[in-house]
Amino acid sequence: MATSTFVWATHQVPVTRWFKAELRQRAPTLHFAYARPGLSTFKVSGEMLEADFALPSSFARAYGVSLGRARAEEEVMGLSEGLPAGRLRLHVFERDIDVPVDEQAPAARGQRAASVRAALLARAPERFAAEPAAGPEDLVLDVVVAHASQPDDGWLVGCHRHHRGHGPEPGGVTHVPLPEEAPSRAWCKVEEVLRWADFALAPRERAIEIGSAPGGASQALLARGLDVFGIDPGPMDPRVLRFSGPHGNRFVHLGVPAAKVQRSQLPHHYEWLLCDVNLAPMVALRYVERFTALAHGGLKGAVLTLKLNDEGVFAALPRLRERIAKLGAREVRYTQVPSHRSEIAAILRY
Ligand SMILES: C[S@@+](CC[C@H](N)C(=O)[O-])C[C@H]1O[C@@H](n2cnc3c(N)ncnc32)[C@H](O)[C@@H]1O
Repeated sequence: MATSTFVWATHQVPVTRWFKAELRQRAPTLHFAYARPGLSTFKVSGEMLEADFALPSSFARAYGVSLGRARAEEEVMGLSEGLPAGRLRLHVFERDIDVPVDEQAPAARGQRAASVRAALLARAPERFAAEPAAGPEDLVLDVVVAHASQPDDGWLVGCHRHHRGHGPEPGGVTHVPLPEEAPSRAWCKVEEVLRWADFALAPRERAIEIGSAPGGASQALLARGLDVFGIDPGPMDPRVLRFSGPHGNRFVHLGVPAAKVQRSQLPHHYEWLLCDVNLAPMVALRYVERFTALAHGGLKGAVLTLKLNDEGVFAALPRLRERIAKLGAREVRYTQVPSHRSEIAAILRY
């Protein structure tokens, strides 16, 4: 059976205290058990948890129920014996270390996960799906290992039933390195969030980005074929301004603060709203509320970057979540992707 009285979650190292404090409030039946950097586990009081449970966390990138600890492939296979028959998705991934992902030596990162995954696939090819990307209802076997730059300190073996509270890739999402031609790190942030959220953006859909300069996120959206309206008094990178894609899509710069944008400057319909302003989230949310209302119900999704740079903002998170819940989305999820620093993403699906 895919149930357990222990759960695990992975998250960035610097937010460990906030991650645990939030769960004490929102999931009081979880009692902190043990941790490694980037990985926390909890004992569940009361009933066993099923693999499809949802963890109410704003910081977790991946989570599931725990099956136990292993040091070798045969122990992983032993722990997974009790799971239902049929092919499992295999997610082997490395814990975060306390170094921002884009400052880590890229050659090392991921090597341990790749070799453990290859060994498990070779050992039991009939038990695992060849591709890791999880779809709805897939049962995923998670093997969480130490970062390749650190000594091997044993593996946590767990599982989760995939649903929209999870990213589809091992560990929720893998870091997407910054291409040379990207104007800013925001390119990685938006790519990772879109992949974690599994959002299907279609060419010629329209996106509004509040806080678009210099343009990494806009460039990622343009590359997916969207028309992008970027709101920012700051200068946009010329490559974004000049962009002309195979779909004929373009970038339009509204070079004024968000409060000064007139409805007539926006397209009649827009499907996607992004907000990445360097303002306190309570202030940024005012603009989000306005541009959500101006979309006249046509939104498909929104990605809101929430700057979380001090204890005050962390303490305000419940109120922020309440305001975000009133934006009319069918579903709101939160996560912190590898490229985030003092920020998390609220991901809304309409
Ligand atoms: C983190 S940067 C955005 C990065 C951008 N998303 C990218 O992809 O490169 C934050 C931006 O918010 C903009 N900003 C701050 N206040 C704003 C406001 N009231 N309206 C629009 N943009 C604002 C700043 O000018 C700055 O360019």
